[in-house]
Amino acid sequence: HVAVIDFGSQYTQLIVRRVRELGYFAKLYALEEFPEIGKPGAIILSGGPRSTSEPDAPDLDFEALKKFGVPVLGVCYGMQLLNIKFGGSVEPSDRREYGQAKLVPATAEGLFEGIPHESQVWMSHSDTVGRLPDNCQVVARNQHGTPVALQWGETWFGIQFHPEVTHSHEGTRILHNFLLHAGKLEPFRIEDFKRELLEQIRDRVGQRQVVCGVSGGVDSTVLAVLLHEAGVNMRAIYVDHGLMRKDEGDEVRSNFHRMGVPIETVDASGRFLSALAGQTEPEKKREIIGNLFIEEFWRAVGNAELLAQGTLYPDVIESASNSKSKASKIKTHHNRVDKILELQAQGKVLEPLAELFKDEVRALGKSLGIPHDILHRHPFPGPGLAVRCPGEVTLERLEIIRECDAIFIGHLKESGWYDRVWQAYACLVPVRTVGVKGDERSYEWAISLRAVISEDAMTADWVELPYQLLRDTSNDILNGVAGINRVLYDISTKPPASIEWE
Ligand code: XMP
Repeated sequence: HVAVIDFGSQYTQLIVRRVRELGYFAKLYALEEFPEIGKPGAIILSGGPRSTSEPDAPDLDFEALKKFGVPVLGVCYGMQLLNIKFGGSVEPSDRREYGQAKLVPATAEGLFEGIPHESQVWMSHSDTVGRLPDNCQVVARNQHGTPVALQWGETWFGIQFHPEVTHSHEGTRILHNFLLHAGKLEPFRIEDFKRELLEQIRDRVGQRQVVCGVSGGVDSTVLAVLLHEAGVNMRAIYVDHGLMRKDEGDEVRSNFHRMGVPIETVDASGRFLSALAGQTEPEKKREIIGNLFIEEFWRAVGNAELLAQGTLYPDVIESASNSKSKASKIKTHHNRVDKILELQAQGKVLEPLAELFKDEVRALGKSLGIPHDILHRHPFPGPGLAVRCPGEVTLERLEIIRECDAIFIGHLKESGWYDRVWQAYACLVPVRTVGVKGDERSYEWAISLRAVISEDAMTADWVELPYQLLRDTSNDILNGVAGINRVLYDISTKPPASIEWE
């Protein structure tokens, strides 16, 4: 495998992901785990927030590193550390480099085989290499002539930029070139990964009981099936907040039944509706739903020995960077709640998917035998239809949204468009306008349809659906759903709009 040693950079897990994308098995190790990395075929030392000149700067046993006799790549902090180990020095730079820079390779071999004469890379550092040891060669510089890639001997490499982020245009190729030096590496297979995860779960859980919440979404489904497969003592709880789409509760139950995983349902829809009565302010609605959800969930759980969560890697980085930066709070996502943070502090939270990205979770789900339609469902927000019902949430409004949404999604599935969009839904526009139905004047609400494509939900574009599809959907809604006399198609990008209405 490829051992990635974590010196604390925000991007370390991305290195692991890139290596896996290239088809090789990669594992992330905390620095303290360095003595236990086994027999790697290549080693990557990640970047980190510290400076090598600080007292107690993160360090590792260089002699032990040499003994592996495999290619080593140091990224950012990793490169600086290697330069010091080989007898060179690192100095504070007169200019802090953060963001884009130019990569100008001095050679077309080694790391830079097939890399253009000039390309964009992403930097994030303040120190830079100073004195270079005798066996060291500068293999690339930036636009100012500063060394940004070093090579010591045949198989020791260092790069100052981050090859793992997409802003480094040739990054993946550079990583690949590095891995080619390692000869035959163990391929990454989701089956092996699954086996390891199952073992880890059994070890961690032991005889305790582990509880997880299921929503019908991809992550929590994969999590529950994984725990079930591990054979540990588990309870999966589905809190039905009544803000789900048409027949969704039944579908979730029948899906789990189909997969042979028992779940318990808590029907709390009445409580949610009463708590939401009269509430129109979006953040307030979210807060009510979030708190009540947790309350209902914990009531059902009782005394948990362990809580499992379907947190994915992007959630991990997002919450980490949110706590560091002062990024303005745009919306409260309802899975980040105090009670969970409390349990986390007590070491009672299990997050087996935390190393994975969405597509990897799907691959894992597939290898667990989860049906395609479940794994490829559109994302659905925790607060459910409440964020698609601006203003007050009432049963009447929810029913209308459910009917329209089911018609729209039905047409998308029938026409093959469902799998081509990231997310699609119907949102109520609770404004009455005048129309004619039969021979009579109508005075009813409008429904807005939205279909977007996105890579990571941070930005999104609306989809140019065929007119015929929109026409059929509109006809069916206007003829079939009482209370709606107008159908709109939302053509707003994110930003400035968000994907949901609230
Ligand atoms: P926005 O509306 O912020 O949505 O552009 C981005 C993505 O996040 C989903 N979303 C949520 N998911 N809990 C979730 O689990 C939430 O509170 C929540 N709010 C929005 C939304 O459906 C879209 O995919």
